[in-house]
Amino acid sequence: MSDSTFAGQTAVNDEANNVGHGDGVTLRSVRWLDGNDGGSLRIIDQRLLPGSLEYRDLNTADDIIAAIRSLAVRGANSIGAAGAFAYAFAVRDGLSADEAFNKVVEARPTAVALIHGVQQAADEYGANADWRDAVSAGNSIIEKDAEECRRIGEVGSVELADASHIMTHCNTGILATAGIGTALGVIYTKQAQGQEVHVYSTETRPLRQGLRLTAWELHRNGVDVTALVDGAAPAALHAGIVDAVIVGADRIARNGDTANKIGTYGLAVAAHENGIPFYVAAPLSAIDLDAADARDIPIEFRAGGEVLDAPGVDQSLPTWNPSFDVTPAELITGIITPEGVLRAPYETSIAKAFGSSGQT
Ligand code: MRU
Repeated sequence: MSDSTFAGQTAVNDEANNVGHGDGVTLRSVRWLDGNDGGSLRIIDQRLLPGSLEYRDLNTADDIIAAIRSLAVRGANSIGAAGAFAYAFAVRDGLSADEAFNKVVEARPTAVALIHGVQQAADEYGANADWRDAVSAGNSIIEKDAEECRRIGEVGSVELADASHIMTHCNTGILATAGIGTALGVIYTKQAQGQEVHVYSTETRPLRQGLRLTAWELHRNGVDVTALVDGAAPAALHAGIVDAVIVGADRIARNGDTANKIGTYGLAVAAHENGIPFYVAAPLSAIDLDAADARDIPIEFRAGGEVLDAPGVDQSLPTWNPSFDVTPAELITGIITPEGVLRAPYETSIAKAFGSSGQT
């Protein structure tokens, strides 16, 4: 099976999927559907957005893994939930607990949420060796994520109360989480509170999640949004039209170094140079206590075809296509979490947030 193809039935215009976050913010990127056939994971096929809003019902580990690899389902939080269901199907279909764990976590290497999601499913499964317990773990992850996004929104809306023109990168919203989003959760919450908010959404090459997904979901939910290419972002920060930058995270090291979509580091440098606050918004579970700093964060590299996607371009050209980069902690003004804003020195604030047990 290639990375970009998977089976799964197509469902369109699913009204039940288009409600539920409150404040007019709608859509569910991942949702479990019970059924006589044992149930399935319904995802929005994000490869088709914004041209077409289609759902796929997936009921094998291979199909979910292919959906994760091809970015049909994407964003750290959403792939964490999807990974739990992939694990459930893998053990249902005869893989051992270890085989299932290794198979699913290899789907994408950078987001620690995938490891956490699969680990949680494995822990639940381990008690009784019943695959449906791993499904319950997936549903708990979805519920917890939605709640944590809501709290990130509340914390961030206070922290950024004076910022009305906000730049963001990639997609961290409804499509990337099981709730209203992390960085975009802050935007939606500001909007819901009646705060003035206007978003500058970077294009986010190579797969354009900013243009295709963020600009689309913000506009769909009534948030003012201006699109710009990645190369224009430093000039926009220099031009004085942006009050703050806020991004999500795939993995945060113990010292605060933060991996996020490629291009985030450049934004942080430009924000620092221009005296503009640069925030990361993420659940505490995005912090990998096993990673001391950037060197311990694995970075995914993707196929060159994503870079060479213009007509007539020689597809054999060498490319350098990391999916993520790491922003050094010293460029980060604060990490907005459901439990409050972590600030430098991050070694101290992170250790304190986790308490002496190392648990959240
Ligand atoms: O490759 P993607 O689209 O999965 O990358 C997504 C990001 O980089 C997000 O900023 C991150 O996963 C946080 S989503 C809440």
